[in-house]
Amino acid sequence: MTQPLKLVIVGHVDHGKSTLIGRLLHDTSSLPEGKLAQIEASCKRRGVAFEWAFILDALQAERDQNVTIDTTQIRLRGQARDSVIIDAPGHKEFLKNMLTGAAQADAALLVIDAKEGVSEQSRRHGYLLQLLGIRQLAVLVNKMDLVGYDEQKFEAIKKDYGAYLESIGLAPACFIPICAQGGDNLSALSKHMPWHKGPTVLAALDCFTSETIDESLPLRFAVQDVYKQDDRRIVVGRVESGALRLGDRLLFSPADTQAGVASIETWPDKNRLQAASGESIGITLDAPVFVERGMIASHSEQPPKLSNRFRARVVWLGKRPLFAGQAFTLKLATQETSAQLQQIEHIIDTQNLAQHAGDSVAHGQVAQVVIRTRRLVAVDDFTSSRLGRFVMISNHAIAGAGILSMEGFADQRMTHPGAVKSTHLSSVDFGVTQAQRARMNGHFGGILWFTGLSGSGKSTLAKALQKRLFDKGYQVYVLDGDNIRQGLSRDLSFSPAERHENIRRVAEAAALFAQAGMIVITAFISPYRRDRELARALTPELFHGVHVKASLATCEARDAKGLYKLARAGKISDFTGVSAPYEAPLDADITVDTEKMDVENCVDALTAYVERQLVEPADELQP
Ligand code: ADX
Repeated sequence: MTQPLKLVIVGHVDHGKSTLIGRLLHDTSSLPEGKLAQIEASCKRRGVAFEWAFILDALQAERDQNVTIDTTQIRLRGQARDSVIIDAPGHKEFLKNMLTGAAQADAALLVIDAKEGVSEQSRRHGYLLQLLGIRQLAVLVNKMDLVGYDEQKFEAIKKDYGAYLESIGLAPACFIPICAQGGDNLSALSKHMPWHKGPTVLAALDCFTSETIDESLPLRFAVQDVYKQDDRRIVVGRVESGALRLGDRLLFSPADTQAGVASIETWPDKNRLQAASGESIGITLDAPVFVERGMIASHSEQPPKLSNRFRARVVWLGKRPLFAGQAFTLKLATQETSAQLQQIEHIIDTQNLAQHAGDSVAHGQVAQVVIRTRRLVAVDDFTSSRLGRFVMISNHAIAGAGILSMEGFADQRMTHPGAVKSTHLSSVDFGVTQAQRARMNGHFGGILWFTGLSGSGKSTLAKALQKRLFDKGYQVYVLDGDNIRQGLSRDLSFSPAERHENIRRVAEAAALFAQAGMIVITAFISPYRRDRELARALTPELFHGVHVKASLATCEARDAKGLYKLARAGKISDFTGVSAPYEAPLDADITVDTEKMDVENCVDALTAYVERQLVEPADELQP
């Protein structure tokens, strides 16, 4: 069966959105038998003139009585297939309603008032649709009757708005001049506008496709729930993209477990061979692996990325402004995790797309930000895959929405963590939780992973930061290259392979300290990106990358240990910056520039970071 098209109708109420919906429902015979007559009769009784918008009000009122979800769906009959208009009840929080709807929609109709022309809001609506990843769009220029059905007026709006949409990368399927009130160009071409040769609104809807039924897209199956039926476990969820077939081997993220598809169950045709994008199905597995709500299944060859950090474009709808450090809940498909706004990179003016710096995002503003989630989430760069879109929840309500990009951030899926040699091992849980330790210490454990050239100031800062944190009563400890290389790593030198092993050991040791509840500062050159990525991937929720930044020239001029001089003279081989590479981080959680800031300033910045990330969340723990 063809999936209905999920449609959102965007435009200010005054621009005739409700009239349009009412009229479309009537023209497509989508109204329940006798509904129109009933509304007309009630208008007569009350002595008010009939309006098409009343249909929507009537449907809304019926729904309000038995609806608990925050969007309602109105079915519109079509020739090729039906459409479902996703609309949110109540007109008060217009932007929020629009986002709730548009975040799930396949296509949009954007309504502009012919008399008013392209307003600030029309631009904004276009931008938000683009931000939410709606790629199928028709622009309806409504109330053409008020401008005398003038072709020039229509063309002027088309030119003006078309140019704006193009500048933000949106290509509308068409512009249609309409009069919703009179039904012009909705289901049939209008007598009043013979210059418009088509399409009509309904014809435009038929050209849209529901979902991207593109089987070449990688499979993403979002687990909603797991039901027990007799002795069978049925994993229920939605195919967000790609296709899922009987016998497929599935990889569940972020757990990284695998199992085969033993059956696909849908109702009414019970056993299926495959399910396509957009379908909600149940599956059973051929192995008893642990699966729960929020996991994402894929094929193992094309898994989503795993990360607890990414860059995003968000529109903020919270009443109070959004600040760096603010906590919220992030929802991405069925995944849900607490998250924090790590950084505001810039604010985007949706009118002219100018970017400017800002330390808060006001209601309705759009910004580019970096987000850090507490748990690993399975993500895709924003494409037609829904794993690139998310919403932000604050105080149990939607407070924002956005799309993400992983550019510059590493995939934290451990592809080759190295085989375990021992056999017959099992993991034991010793019962004291991280939260219990955090309550006792007054802060969470964590790893501050310093990286930088020799002489950049890692050890100096580690020492000063440890002192500051210790004096504040925190549990803190430093692991330092020069010391570790005389013990734990005494058998290692400076070849790439040996540095890799050094970093692996340090990462494992640091993770143990952090799990024990301590704040661990590691001071190692750790010059290779890949090695640092593996260190992060070991315990992503505990890892915080710190770039101790100073240019090679500065470090060499400082030459505190006289090693650069020896390296230049050829007396030390594989020396970082001289005869071995240093790969600066692209994805540091915090950078301290030791050329521009003195030790005190760096320690201030790092302490503030630690308190935001590790101390404040512990304050919120209930005893
Ligand atoms: S890492 O590359 O494996 O992270 P690490 O931080 O442990 O290096 O050790 C760096 C320290 O070893 C430097 O501070 C320096 O004192 C000393 N060292 C000796 N030889 C080298 C070398 N070839 N390259 C870099 N550091 C060296």
